[in-house]
Amino acid sequence: MSTSNTVLITGASTGIGAAYAERFAARGHDLVLVARDITRLEALAARLREQHAVSIDILPADLTQTADLAAVEARLREDANIGTLVNNAGAAQSGGFIEQSTDSVAQLVALNTTALVRLASAIAPRLAAAGNGAIINIGSVVGLAPEFGMTVYGATKAFVLFLSQGMSLELAPKGVYVQAVLPAATRTEIWERAGIDINTLTDVMEVGDLVDAALVGFDRREPVTIPPLQDGARWDALQAARQGLLAQIKQSQVAERYLANA
Ligand SMILES: NC(=O)c1ccc[n+]([C@@H]2O[C@H](COP(=O)([O-])OP(=O)(O)OC[C@H]3O[C@@H](n4cnc5c(N)ncnc54)[C@H](OP(=O)(O)O)[C@@H]3O)[C@@H](O)[C@H]2O)c1
Repeated sequence: MSTSNTVLITGASTGIGAAYAERFAARGHDLVLVARDITRLEALAARLREQHAVSIDILPADLTQTADLAAVEARLREDANIGTLVNNAGAAQSGGFIEQSTDSVAQLVALNTTALVRLASAIAPRLAAAGNGAIINIGSVVGLAPEFGMTVYGATKAFVLFLSQGMSLELAPKGVYVQAVLPAATRTEIWERAGIDINTLTDVMEVGDLVDAALVGFDRREPVTIPPLQDGARWDALQAARQGLLAQIKQSQVAERYLANA
């Protein structure tokens, strides 16, 4: 395989990350698989090596633990074969903001945002210097919708979207592709892990369909891919509305409605 052909995937032991591992192995990419569950990582690696004749390393890590996270960062910094990072590991949480413990929300933020940005930061300078490579960040449509009642989870996913858009603006001119993928409800273990019964949801996307669609966006080099969004023009309209709002911001001038005598 050519240089920079290896894909490092976090949260690869199951769900969306495991589906990415399948798809990238089928495309002939070598893989580095990261998650906590070594048994599952080994089983997946053995199967994909057998099916696709690719080289697969497993790198067990709890991305909320500083030493483990640092080991993955070091691998991303130093291993010039890795040309793509799939920043997928993440968790959700049930309950409202006041029911969630301070420690549990901090843990969620650590996994969904701190680990994700540290890993992106570890690999981006090397990719930019090489003038190629890709970073896929898994967000969520929940990051667009405070109305969904998943406040902290949604806030972490809003962070992922903003980070991806900003990184894309900075890195695309240097030859590095950054994609944010925003799934809606997808059939994985995330729901059960968060104590939510998936059967209470009306519509759920199958994980293979989600990842195949995300890879269509990847191949098109879309900065933001939202597989469940039916009318793509809605996203463009949202971005145009945001640009319009920005054009109305005047740094030195208080808006008339806030003038004391208005
Ligand atoms: N499924 C959905 O409905 C949905 C919708 C929108 C966005 N997403 C996003 O998609 C991504 C993948 O979620 P999923 O649905 O595939 O969930 P999942 O089936 O629960 O898989 C989560 C993955 O992350 C790993 N992981 C969890 N905590 C970790 C930690 N502390 N350190 C390292 N790895 C950890 C898990 O492996 P180990 O347990 O082996 O560590 C597992 O491989 C997440 O970012 C999620 O927010 C999912």
